[in-house]
Amino acid sequence: IRTQVGILGAGPAGLQLAHLLQRAGIDSVVIDGRSREDIEGTVKAGILESPAVEVLVDTDVVSREHVETMRHDGIEFHFDGHAHRFDFPALTGKGVYLYPQHEVLKDQIKARVNAGVSPLFEHLADKVVDGPNGPMIVGKTATGEAFEISADFVIGADGSMSIAREYVTGNKFSGMAREYPFGWYGILVEAPPSSEELIYSRSEEGFVLISTRDEHIQRMYFQCDPNMDVNAVNDEQIWDKLQAGVATHELKRGPIFRKDVLKFRSYVHDSLRKNKVFLMGDAAHTVPPTGAKGLNLAFSDVLWLNRALREYYRSGSEKYLDTYQEDALKRIWKAANYSYMMTTMLHIAPDATEFDKNRQVADLYSHTESLAGQTFIAEGYVGWDYDADD
Ligand code: DHB
Repeated sequence: IRTQVGILGAGPAGLQLAHLLQRAGIDSVVIDGRSREDIEGTVKAGILESPAVEVLVDTDVVSREHVETMRHDGIEFHFDGHAHRFDFPALTGKGVYLYPQHEVLKDQIKARVNAGVSPLFEHLADKVVDGPNGPMIVGKTATGEAFEISADFVIGADGSMSIAREYVTGNKFSGMAREYPFGWYGILVEAPPSSEELIYSRSEEGFVLISTRDEHIQRMYFQCDPNMDVNAVNDEQIWDKLQAGVATHELKRGPIFRKDVLKFRSYVHDSLRKNKVFLMGDAAHTVPPTGAKGLNLAFSDVLWLNRALREYYRSGSEKYLDTYQEDALKRIWKAANYSYMMTTMLHIAPDATEFDKNRQVADLYSHTESLAGQTFIAEGYVGWDYDADD
């Protein structure tokens, strides 16, 4: 197969880039080792920032009417016996949208299929190599047939286990990373919402997050050991852990139909490009989940690369390809900082001293009692405007 842009990974970043390029008349082929059912069925985070929603609405991936029904205008922090609500419209003029990532993916895949350029599912890439006419993706389909995609550019949007990264960084970890001594135990439960807005709670027992998917399905998390076995607690113990974080609400219980343990990590790779191969999204960086920045941050990379590739095909100029890494890294580090800050402000480290815990509560008061502090949290949460203009 020959194309202009070969995109590894049918996640939100790869699919959105393909969609934007097509609107500019640029050909691409998106491949992914997983099946469509697998991709559409994998549960991920749920929050879309306001600027990410604008991108999806402006490019006709989702309709304004539909997405507006999922708007959330605030979140609550619970700590030290207090509940504080962040009023997003009052603080920033914007809101966020509880639009689960797999729903975004369904919409994006539908947009690709409707445009007659379905992603190639069950196409597992082995590696990226230098071909005679630019970079090449080589791999095998699920049925064992070998394939090759030869392109002007290859974009690695293939997640934290990226194989494009092996081409760019030479197979070694070449970035900056941070581990966390805790993770999340997450459940999906069949029950009505327990709270109208998301609750982020910090108590002596640790962190709890009460989130939602829709009127019938709720998503909740409690802080746990990152190496905990999902079967180490029974449902009663799960409800006790969750309820311990939210004294003000009686959690509505129901059948728990999914349980998972999420490990946390922050990393930023220091090389996002080699020759005509570029990295974006989780292939380039990852953030811990607190604040739900992952997908929203990946969209920033998408917009920078979209601008760079459009300029290249319009005028032949590589100027924005050359500045991609520097352009993208500014927001990557801002999001890395925000996610780190939200995580460390709300979780209790196993080795936290009394000093650490008292300081942490003071940090929470500083961000809730002052208008400047509230605005800082809210601006990061609803999302900073994307900087890549056309
Ligand atoms: C969800 C996940 C997050 O990381 C977050 O900050 C808020 C909500 C969720 O899965 O619903």
